Amino acid sequence: MKKDILTLFDLEKADFELLFQEAAELKARRKMGIVEHVLAGKSLGLIFEKPSTRTRISFETAMIQLGGTPIFISANDTQIVRNEPVMDTARVLSRFIDGIAIRTFSQDLLEGFAEFSTIPVINALTDMYHPCQILSDLMTVIECKGGYDGVKIAWVGDGNNVAHSWINAATVLGFGLTLACPEGYEPNKTVLEKARAKGGTHIKITQDPAEAVRDADVIYTDVWASMGQEREQNLRKKVFQPYQVNSALLEKAPKEVVIMHCLPAHRGEEISDKVLEGPRSVVWDQAENKLHMHKAILKVLLTRKE
Ligand code: CP
Ligand code: NVA
Repeated sequence: MKKDILTLFDLEKADFELLFQEAAELKARRKMGIVEHVLAGKSLGLIFEKPSTRTRISFETAMIQLGGTPIFISANDTQIVRNEPVMDTARVLSRFIDGIAIRTFSQDLLEGFAEFSTIPVINALTDMYHPCQILSDLMTVIECKGGYDGVKIAWVGDGNNVAHSWINAATVLGFGLTLACPEGYEPNKTVLEKARAKGGTHIKITQDPAEAVRDADVIYTDVWASMGQEREQNLRKKVFQPYQVNSALLEKAPKEVVIMHCLPAHRGEEISDKVLEGPRSVVWDQAENKLHMHKAILKVLLTRKE
């Protein structure tokens, strides 16, 4: 059976562990100049219906570094734009390529694609989830903090797709997670209910950023208006102002706290320039780790035996 990553609930703790180990090894071997063409002869399709710098280019590079071929599939230049049913596209592409990474709006569309596809489908971001982001972010947490057990993540900002994947990861792995979100911008209720039903009862929601960061090992933020919410941008700028990750908030956190952001960052909105560029920020290592983690994901999913 093929294995998809549509949400982090597709992975068990052992799957996370395998990916962390593979990614760390691939990173170390890459730094030593070792070439590993474990995906020679294989191809990965990439359908991106929203912009992407990091996710798309790191998946493409990951495929090339592992000896395989990435194929960017532009929705506008395929029959997707003329509404060929997803179930048809999924079955046809499954006959050509070995895996597919999809960035789109609707989680349901992604899941529909996966249902009819016989190759692994990877969620490269939907309105609901961004699972691969949190896999590489946890790799960074492990590098900075020596592991994830007992670590406390403070999410400050919008209860969005990235926050939802943090909730899923905290449920499976059990690390601490407190989300500070303005009223009306909390994580999706169904996402939280599912997490709590699966054991994520320790995940806390507050409206107070200071409370969230007080005992945090990591402060994490993301844009106030995600892709597709551009029209809400002005309203959100006002509502989220007290949630900016800046020097004043940093003073309320432990000295060893690290700052993470999935990027792209809007300096002066969700994060101040000083904090983003400051000594506690690990955002560039975090971005780099997307490459190593995506290599691990591709290696594991595309070489998996029945
Ligand atoms: N963090 C992230 O997913 O960035 P991109 O939108 O550039 O892929
Ligand atoms: N929440 C953001 C993440 C971008 C990587 C968005 O969906 O636009």
